[in-house]
Amino acid sequence: MLQLKPIPDSDVDAFYEMISDPSLSVNTGSIPMGVDRAWALNRLRERREEEAAGKRVDDGLYDDETLVGMAGWFYNEHDQMEIGYAIHKDHRGKGLATRAAAMVVDKLREGGYNGAIFAQYFKDNPASGRVLEKLGFEKESSTEGPSASRVGLSPAWIAKLNALSDAGLQDAAAAKPLEGQSNK
Ligand SMILES: CC(C)(COP(=O)(O)OP(=O)(O)OC[C@H]1O[C@@H](n2cnc3c(N)ncnc32)[C@H](O)[C@@H]1OP(=O)(O)O)[C@@H](O)C(=O)NCCC(=O)NCCS
Repeated sequence: MLQLKPIPDSDVDAFYEMISDPSLSVNTGSIPMGVDRAWALNRLRERREEEAAGKRVDDGLYDDETLVGMAGWFYNEHDQMEIGYAIHKDHRGKGLATRAAAMVVDKLREGGYNGAIFAQYFKDNPASGRVLEKLGFEKESSTEGPSASRVGLSPAWIAKLNALSDAGLQDAAAAKPLEGQSNK
């Protein structure tokens, strides 16, 4: 079963191995190349604290007991809701990023977040663009973004999933009976 959950300290070695891959770090914003195990452990602890404080989510993607990726949400520098995801190099090309990103979007919507959702990806990373396209995101604008694994800024796309429309909200409300009411 595929699930998103905080990564415990006991999985630090699997996490460290996953993020030590340059093909992963170079396409993320905040993972430098050549981190050590202590950095990875600190990152796990920071992320769990931030999730507990409701500031962001950056969970492990588990296929049963195996850590196959990570995904979550955060507020970007424009205070917009942004999602991010990465898949272990040995598990790519099987639809996992698409499923993980869909799970993040679903959790946000189920949690009552109805606003627009953004994602940013480097132009030399079209697989990420395809993931977003499959979820209904549309390219909104072009920018230059930083990666802790790249020198300087790199050309990037900003993609957007529209806010739920009033009509969409009404549909959702109609489909979901109010608490305590029966839909029989
Ligand atoms: C980008 C990444 C998340 C994709 O993960 P994945 O599990 O392989 O993604 P999925 O299998 O769900 O979907 C990938 C899609 O991209 C397509 N794709 C792969 N390489 C591509 C390329 N070079 N150009 C265009 N599309 C490409 C695949 O065919 C697939 O689309 P399809 O289902 O229509 O065939 C993964 O490569 C990764 O973790 N990269 C490093 C970190 C990263 O880039 N994170 C995203 C930061 S924005």
